[in-house]
Amino acid sequence: MTDPQLDAVGRPMPEFPDPTPLASHGPARVIALCNQKGGVGKTTTTINLGAALAEYGRRVLIVDFDPQGAASVGLGISPHELDRTVYNLLMERDAHIHSLIQHTATPNLDLLPANIDLSAAEVQLVGEVARETVLARALRPILDDYDVVFIDCQPSLGLLAVNALTAAHGVLIPLECEFFALRGVALLVETIDKVRDRLNPRLELDGILATMYDPRTLHAREVVARVHEAFGDALLHTVISRTVKFPDATVAAEPITTYAPTHSGAAAYRQLARELVARGDAA
Ligand SMILES: Nc1ncnc2c1ncn2[C@@H]1O[C@H](COP(=O)(O)OP(=O)(O)OP(=O)(O)O)[C@@H](O)[C@H]1O
Ligand SMILES: [Mg+2]
Repeated sequence: MTDPQLDAVGRPMPEFPDPTPLASHGPARVIALCNQKGGVGKTTTTINLGAALAEYGRRVLIVDFDPQGAASVGLGISPHELDRTVYNLLMERDAHIHSLIQHTATPNLDLLPANIDLSAAEVQLVGEVARETVLARALRPILDDYDVVFIDCQPSLGLLAVNALTAAHGVLIPLECEFFALRGVALLVETIDKVRDRLNPRLELDGILATMYDPRTLHAREVVARVHEAFGDALLHTVISRTVKFPDATVAAEPITTYAPTHSGAAAYRQLARELVARGDAA
């Protein structure tokens, strides 16, 4: 087992203080959750980190940017019953973003939903002028209403991912602690670098989050050690352990912070929220 004073790679574990209450809100920092590998914990992190920051009094908007609509479903909104989603925001010049945003059951946590309509956007945007900056422009009117905006990307590095990276101030990369975790990360980092050079000079790599970590296996510990070797202190101190409570919370369509508020998985996402605030990556 790991020493609670040390993180998963043996660095001293800092204390992350409770975020100070905010007297006013906005402008939001936009963070894209990105990894073209599927099933690494992008959506789980978006929902639970968003809910944890909302608990700390931050106003949080989650942009579901995956045609599968997993973030929408996970927050109790049935995307297939919606006829207006982030797709309309991208494709209609006069779409009103305020009318597309939904409140969730978690106070301070709002959602811009997506459904399968979004799968057409990738093709339809190709012919647009300034096709990479469509999302950035569309989000501008609401940035002052929120402290953090999370964009839950689909597992691909196509035009939608480039739009998310162009709209973002920071990228958070969830990596599943398994043998091939690092495969493809070089391409992801290269894409981030290209977007920074050509489209969005402010873009930062906020951190790499180890997910589905099993502290009992040597294998998981080796994977995080290799991630640390490759990325140094971009590897966040907080790691998210593997537990069935996450899929259970998804089925219940609730963040783990309300589904199982005292579970270690909820504590881990609260710690991640505090770590990002302490690093200056979130308000
Ligand atoms: N820490 C964890 N422990 C156990 N299961 C997890 C954990 N994190 C996520 N899962 C489960 O793993 C699956 C994939 O997670 P998730 O949907 O968050 O990944 P994703 O990167 O968003 O996937 P996709 O690339 O398909 O969008 C889900 O069933 C989720 O409930
Ligand atoms: Mg997802």
